Amino acid sequence: MERITVRTPGKINLTLDVLGNFANGYHDLQMVMSEVKLFDEITITKQGQGIALEIDQPELPVDERNLAYKAVALLKEEFALKEGIHLSLKKTIPVAAGMAGGSADAAGVLKGMNQLFQLGLTLEELQVRGLKLGADVPFCLLGGCALAEGVGERLTSLKPLPQAYLVLVKPDFSVSTPWVFSQIDREVIQQHPDTRGILAAIEEGELAAIADKLCNVLELVTVKAYPVIQEIKDCLEGAGALKALMTGSGPTVYGIFAKEDTAQGAAQALAAQQLAAKVYVVKVGK
Ligand code: C5P
Repeated sequence: MERITVRTPGKINLTLDVLGNFANGYHDLQMVMSEVKLFDEITITKQGQGIALEIDQPELPVDERNLAYKAVALLKEEFALKEGIHLSLKKTIPVAAGMAGGSADAAGVLKGMNQLFQLGLTLEELQVRGLKLGADVPFCLLGGCALAEGVGERLTSLKPLPQAYLVLVKPDFSVSTPWVFSQIDREVIQQHPDTRGILAAIEEGELAAIADKLCNVLELVTVKAYPVIQEIKDCLEGAGALKALMTGSGPTVYGIFAKEDTAQGAAQALAAQQLAAKVYVVKVGK
């Protein structure tokens, strides 16, 4: 086999809680996350020498600053792979948006390289390597719906979400995750997610109860800095969302809807308000 193409999904946070700090500057987190059907597509080809990366978005780095590139470099070195690698990356997941787009690309490359070179790595072995690239990479390798703890590497798979529709709204700016985490002050967090409550609601498959428990403490930082995020949340809830939440460190916001036509109507309302650069409607769950 000379070439493989993999599709790799983004994620949303249903909850994000900051429980403490680790000595290395990372935070002790508790998060419920679900993959969403917005996919980046990566074609990995054995070609030439060294590593070459081509992306359909010219503003993104194509060298070792890119997680997809780093993922190739990590396996190439560990397994002393002689062939050169050409990566072609087609981005759909919004960049620097709280949807783990870079981590999803790294996960896709690890999985694809594992197949292309028949490395025989198990999911757990891929996750150990993924964690070296970023805290969300182990979840991106696992997929589905999961509780993530620690820096994000302690994962417990959950039942898939019940069927629902998400309207994902990406404002026309990006947010630096390290900056958001550097600003979070645990003393001022008044409302923490009810993680146990949402786990029970997911187990029961109760969409309204799941929506009721959506909570992300990083909104405290990002919404304060960018009030338009609150405007988008209000607009989604005004248009019939069961609830709206910012995902990850932001700035992407999603509304969760029981019915597709309500979700499509809300997407149109958002587009008309011109608050966002991009609006997507995606189905989640079974
Ligand atoms: O691991 P990754 O590079 O994706 O993390 C991006 C940034 O998010 C880190 O540099 C850190 O500032 C922050 N982070 C954190 N605690 C975590 C995960 C990420 O502080 N558990």
